[in-house]
Order: sequence, then C-alpha cells, then structure tokens
Amino acid sequence: MTAPLVLGIETSCDETGAGLVRGHELLADAIASSVEQHARFGGVVPEVASRAHLEAMVPAVDRALATAGEARERLQRWHDHEQGLESPRGLWAIVPLGSGVQPPVGTIPLLPLADADGPAGLTEVGWHLHPDHQGRGLATEAAAAVLAVAAEAGIGPVLAMTDLDNIRSQAVAARLGMRDEGITQRWFGLTMRQFRYLADA
Ligand SMILES: CC(C)(COP(=O)(O)OP(=O)(O)OC[C@H]1O[C@@H](n2cnc3c(N)ncnc32)[C@H](O)[C@@H]1OP(=O)(O)O)[C@@H](O)C(=O)NCCC(=O)NCCS
Repeated sequence: MTAPLVLGIETSCDETGAGLVRGHELLADAIASSVEQHARFGGVVPEVASRAHLEAMVPAVDRALATAGEARERLQRWHDHEQGLESPRGLWAIVPLGSGVQPPVGTIPLLPLADADGPAGLTEVGWHLHPDHQGRGLATEAAAAVLAVAAEAGIGPVLAMTDLDNIRSQAVAARLGMRDEGITQRWFGLTMRQFRYLADA
C-alpha cells in the first residue's frame, strides 16, 4: 500500500516551513525566514513572528507544492520523451552500489535532440544528482558509463548542454573529456554552453 501524501506545516520562532512527505521521504519543501524583521529589535518579537507566519504560510505552501508539481511534470515529460526510444537511449538512474536495494540518487538522460527544425540526428547526455550525493564523482562516473554504452551501440554524436553559469555541470563535462564548443542558442529556446563527447570528434 502506498503511504499517504502528507503536507506538513511548521513554524519556529523565526521560520515558517512547509514540506510534502510520503512515508519517510521528503518530496518537496520550502522555508520562509522572518529573521530580518526581528533583527532590528535584537531578538524575536512574538507579535512580529505571528504576523510573519501568517504572511509567509500560503506562499511557502505554494512554493513547496510548485516544486513537487514541477518535479512530477518533469518526470512525466521525460517519461513521454522516452516512449518509442530504443535502449540505450532513455533516462538512466544512478544507483550507488551497496547491499540490498538502494534508492536512485540521480539521473543520466541520453535522449535524442531536436531543434526548431525537428529531430537533429544528435543525442544529448545530461546529469542530475540529489544534493546529498554531490561531490563524490558519481555524476562523472555514471555519465562515463552511459557514454561508453552509447559508443558501443554506435550512437553519436553526443552533446551536453549546460546553463552558462552552471560551473559544476561544466566541470562534469570537462572531467568526461568533452570538448567545449562555446555558446549556442540552437536548443530549447535557451542560450547554453555546448559540449561534445570526444569519441565522435
Ligand atoms: C551538475 C552536478 C551533477 C555535478 O555534481 P558533482 O557532484 O559536482 O559532480 P560529480 O558527481 O562528478 O562529482 C565531482 C566532485 O566530486 C569530487 N570527487 C570526489 N571523488 C571523486 C572521484 N572518485 N571522481 C571524480 N570526482 C570526485 C570532485 O573533486 C568534484 O568535487 P569539486 O567540484 O568540489 O572539485 C550537480 O551539481 C547537480 O546535480 N546539479 C543540479 C542539476 C544540474 O544542474 N544538472 C546539469 C544540467 S546541465
């Protein structure tokens, strides 16, 4: 049986929090702080705190639900995008090795790219890690494994696109030995930095 979905709202002296939880899993959360409003009095003023909670409550719940809604929408988009794709194209889960069944900690999409003119005959690789699992080399290791499988399957060229200021994502591309091809506006209606997997350079 699926555990019920619970929306929790909590207030402390100077924070208003909303969290969406299923079982023991926190699906989304948002926190609003009123610390700046108290700072000028040198401590928490209960009357200020109660008003701040009232003002922050609905926006905090909206933000938490929007995050969960966005996540569900993104998963659905990826699911739709995967339909009809032949392996190894699709959405790969990053699952750390260990005893028993481990929950996924990230994803490696390997998906066909399309631009304004339609399918581009190119494949996009990406990487996303849960914040608790960053800084351990997991994205690089997982993407390298998926790129190797793609190369074995004769898939190429493979590109990665990052936001211009996404330094950590650009570092993953660099660690994978991908070539920085500079800024492009070809994809998704966005200005992005494009990298190319060198196996097909
Ligand atoms: C982009 C993203 C996946 C990068 O995560 P990351 O943890 O920095 O990447 P990796 O898993 O490759 O880990 C590399 C880090 O682990 C460290 N590391 C530790 N052990 C390592 C190992 N065995 N091998 C490689 N790196 C290792 C590296 O030094 C590096 O840390 P540093 O940046 O402080 O030098 C992550 O920031 C993320 O999920 N962001 C949100 C989603 C996103 O923006 N995705 C990209 C969309 S374009």
